[in-house]
Amino acid sequence: MSGTSTAAGPRRLRTQVAVVGAGPAGLVLANVLLRAGVGVAVVERRSRAEVERRARAGLVEHRVVEYLRAHGLADRLLAEGTRHGWCDFLCAGRLLRFDYGAQSGGIRHWVYPQQLLVRDLIADLGTAGHTPEFGLPATRVHVDGAGPARVECPGLDIECDYVVGCDGPHGITPQALPPDTAPRAELDERYPYDWLTLLAEVDRGVPGVVYAVHEDGFAGVMPRTSRIARLYLEIPAGDATARWTAARVHERLRTRLVGAGAAVPRLGRIMETGVLRMRSSVRQRFQHGRLFLAGDAAHVLTPSGAKGMNLAVADAADLADALIRRYRDGDETHLAGYTARRLPEVLRTRDLAAGFLDLLHPQGEHPADRRGELARRLERLRELAEPGAAGAAFAHWYVGAGPGLPVPRRAPHGTPHTMQSREPRESTP
Ligand code: APR
Repeated sequence: MSGTSTAAGPRRLRTQVAVVGAGPAGLVLANVLLRAGVGVAVVERRSRAEVERRARAGLVEHRVVEYLRAHGLADRLLAEGTRHGWCDFLCAGRLLRFDYGAQSGGIRHWVYPQQLLVRDLIADLGTAGHTPEFGLPATRVHVDGAGPARVECPGLDIECDYVVGCDGPHGITPQALPPDTAPRAELDERYPYDWLTLLAEVDRGVPGVVYAVHEDGFAGVMPRTSRIARLYLEIPAGDATARWTAARVHERLRTRLVGAGAAVPRLGRIMETGVLRMRSSVRQRFQHGRLFLAGDAAHVLTPSGAKGMNLAVADAADLADALIRRYRDGDETHLAGYTARRLPEVLRTRDLAAGFLDLLHPQGEHPADRRGELARRLERLRELAEPGAAGAAFAHWYVGAGPGLPVPRRAPHGTPHTMQSREPRESTP
């Protein structure tokens, strides 16, 4: 997008699909649409530098990688990411190796930091001819009434056929949905604990994820790069990061990770501290008229199982397919079925992530209760780690071995179908 505002009013832009938010959902959607010839405009309230260094998730499902690969969006991930097929559970002093790569029949997922994927997807968008408008928040969307949909930003008005809200749970697009789409009480859950999230220097790379289930609370260690690890520490719900000094964090980690041995490298400087408020919340519908929500804007899950980013890409893949059909065949039925297709998977994922979270968090007011819970957790973890039906089912879900994401049909000679599309047009009033 380019153009300048004039004294007469904001800059105007006409496109087919306006995407609000340049996280994984918005960027995957925009890339796939553009490559299929659908006109797209992306607005992102943060600067490019901010989104490219915002460290968050890091486990990318097998099916997501295959999808990105099919669209030519996975080159750096495949070159620089690492495949993972096992994790360790540390419970009641026992270290159990869960070889989920073997239990899933050889399918593994990838470790690749989300901000690097975001960086790559922005570069890929540039190659396809579009640069998102960074540092530009959408302030309002209009999807009701006749005429085109509209996204208002300071100094820019986008007119479009459809708006896709990829702006997370606190963005403006979820607020534009009617109240009957809000999460029902049973799908809006707040847990009695949070996770302190830390990025820490390490003396060597973390070889695999470690989930430590301890009566003092949960701790998790995740690989990121050869010098950096992501760590999680259970803390009471609502606790402020300021209460968690580096000394206290190190002390808690030492307590909870005792017995991990070589599974955890020596931890150095803590580079970043934040809190993940543990809640999950799923909207009843992800669509209202010409507004569609994808990723965290539609559903927030707890980080257990690392499914947030993967579901965001799966939403984007589904929506891209539906929009491409709409422009290729003029058929809107697939678009209308978006919620009906996505909601069951989101709910299933939410349930499995909640079950996994429960496994990692023995609760109980008294230490004796917690020790009893810990013994039960150890049994369940053993059952997972040993070859068998429970381990295999979990392994398939964890690596994302399920059905592939919809890849748009290709023309016989291998190029995508040409859309009967209007190119994005720009005009100033
Ligand atoms: N206008 C424009 N952009 C906005 C606005 C707005 N009003 N509000 C928010 N945004 C931007 C944010 O700055 C952010 O970059 O929307 C983007 C949303 O990106 P993500 O939060 O990464 O959401 P999503 O693409 O759905 O990916 C979600 O990634 O880290 C995982 O587990 C995490 O589940 C999460 C997943």
